[in-house]
Amino acid sequence: MIGLFIAFEGGDGAGKSTQVELLADRLGQLGYAPILTRQPGGTTLGRALRDLVLHGEHMSPRAEALIFAADKAQHVEELIRPALLAGEIVITDRYTDSSVAYQGAGRDLGAEEVQRLQMWAVHDLVPDLTVIVDITAEEGRRRRGAVHDRLESEHDGFHEAVRDHFHALAAADPQRYLVVDGTDSPTQIAARVWERVEPMLPGVPS
Ligand code: TYD
Repeated sequence: MIGLFIAFEGGDGAGKSTQVELLADRLGQLGYAPILTRQPGGTTLGRALRDLVLHGEHMSPRAEALIFAADKAQHVEELIRPALLAGEIVITDRYTDSSVAYQGAGRDLGAEEVQRLQMWAVHDLVPDLTVIVDITAEEGRRRRGAVHDRLESEHDGFHEAVRDHFHALAAADPQRYLVVDGTDSPTQIAARVWERVEPMLPGVPS
């Protein structure tokens, strides 16, 4: 696969979206035009699924896992894979590791099974780099304030299990992951991300 595929992961309130924007700005200054997207919700179908899964009524954990997987299948087929094949830089706010951590570890469906489901959904497409913006459950809750979607409103124990699983994924494959401290300043975090991304960049398109 040509192109460059970068995912940002982390707990709710970690500041992933700010980092996606800071990285995109820096790339833009150098003449790159990265494609920014997010999960759930990167496609028309994904936006409908996002509403269902984040704001709907109670659903069974397996139904939840399948909806997140369906969002990813559509997202990869419609947007991410064609963009990478065209040599683009794609930056996504959350990807398969969110499901492995939230549904696998948080909901306790089993990380390995959810990983297999996710890999089936995305035809085994893994990012070149996954940045995990690390934050404690307590700090995440403080930053999120009063507005909660279905996942955010889970108790701190759920969010700690999610966090531990992100750490485990990163520890198992340090080449493909970067863990940054979400309590550092956004500029400090962006600088660490840049150190890892810069050597991976393709030539600037003319
Ligand atoms: P999030 O990126 O936090 O959306 P927003 O920035 O608008 O709050 O993602 C929404 C929630 O969905 C978040 O709590 C994590 C959860 N999630 C899963 O549980 N599984 C997944 O596969 C994905 C992509 C997200």
